[in-house]
Amino acid sequence: MLHGKRILLIVAGGIAAYKCLELVRRLRERGAAVRCILTRAGAEFVTPLSLSALTGDKVYGELFSLTDEAEMGHIQLSRDADLLVVAPATADILARMAHGLCDDLATTALLATDKPVLAAPAMNVRMWEHPATRDNLALLHARGLRTVGPNEGEMACNERGYGRMAEPAEILAAIEESLAGELPEGAERPLAGRRALVTSGPTREAIDPVRYLSNHSSGKQGHAIAAALAALGAETTLVSGPVALPDPPGLKVVRVESAEEMLAACQAALPADVAVCAAAVADWRVAGVAGQKMKKDGGGPPQLALSENPDILASLARPGNLRPRLVVGFAAETERVVEQAVAKRARKGCDWILANDVSASTGTFGGDRNTIHLIAGPPADEGSAPDPQVESWPPLSKTEVARRLAGRVAAFFAGEAA
Ligand code: CTP
Repeated sequence: MLHGKRILLIVAGGIAAYKCLELVRRLRERGAAVRCILTRAGAEFVTPLSLSALTGDKVYGELFSLTDEAEMGHIQLSRDADLLVVAPATADILARMAHGLCDDLATTALLATDKPVLAAPAMNVRMWEHPATRDNLALLHARGLRTVGPNEGEMACNERGYGRMAEPAEILAAIEESLAGELPEGAERPLAGRRALVTSGPTREAIDPVRYLSNHSSGKQGHAIAAALAALGAETTLVSGPVALPDPPGLKVVRVESAEEMLAACQAALPADVAVCAAAVADWRVAGVAGQKMKKDGGGPPQLALSENPDILASLARPGNLRPRLVVGFAAETERVVEQAVAKRARKGCDWILANDVSASTGTFGGDRNTIHLIAGPPADEGSAPDPQVESWPPLSKTEVARRLAGRVAAFFAGEAA
């Protein structure tokens, strides 16, 4: 349900704009308040009158309408919303969002907002596939834009392919997912007074001053977990390797490069009640990093001697005064996922492990979804080696995995306090 939630719906100029009428109706049925900005091009496809009848509110259009500016400035429009939804998100409005243009009310509100934004792209398949659109979307995703669709199918222009706007029911589900777990202002935050530490992203291990060893971790999962813990009130430190993501709001971010720097930053962030290690720490570093750029001196390729990096998760989980009460790790596995994760949990000494099935069939690697098995319960080496509690989650977006985990962490501490 969306009771009390406020959606600012931006309708841009695409043939799919007619689907917004249905979307508004469904949002209102679920108790959301909807306010609309209709762009000049959007008004060629749907009328302000039909939107206004369905929202029960006036429809905003011109940036320099004096009465609108006096009654409801563009800053206020986005400040009053819990979520901004751009549907249809045309190639044009995505391009203007990516480049910070703000020559109408819609783009001005989008640039002025600090609220989450969800876009439902809709355009011709060639426009969707054009490198300009791909680059704009990559930039927008890196800045935190969420998208739903487009779908594949027959298009208004008689072509087939990706570009059809997601259906109202799909957009509605994405709106519900975007808003789930976002506590209203003033709500009780179950992790208030708790301290959280999260590692995220890859590490970079220098070979010489210009080269390094690293991996493809995006940091999306770790950043989402840090944001979800902070949203529940935890005072959160995010220790991150180099990523192209924006800093999540409301928490402390410590940027590091190497595994050794990550370990030192984690130790400096203690004490913490909960630590979640989501970073893809490089297992090895180069022994004896060259002080100067290594040259091709005719002697053939150099031999790199490697030494093992510290295990940050295992080191945080080691018994001692500063051990966080709850230490959570990840296990990326491609076969015998649960069995290997159970063994990894025992080896590293952490309390919970989120086993992530990264076999090709799950599409996890590089994707936005994760298939998780949460392994909790008393560790195998306590007493009679009880069966671990394994909870299998359906494939979920990384944001949803983060929210579920933060909810489980809150429930754990609530149980401890009871
Ligand atoms: N981890 C860590 N420090 C390391 C290596 C791993 O903190 N030097 C953490 C990761 O953040 C993750 C967990 O340990 O939470 C498991 O990482 P994974 O790469 O799955 O395991 P490895 O220890 O690398 O084991 P293996 O390569 O045998 O699967």
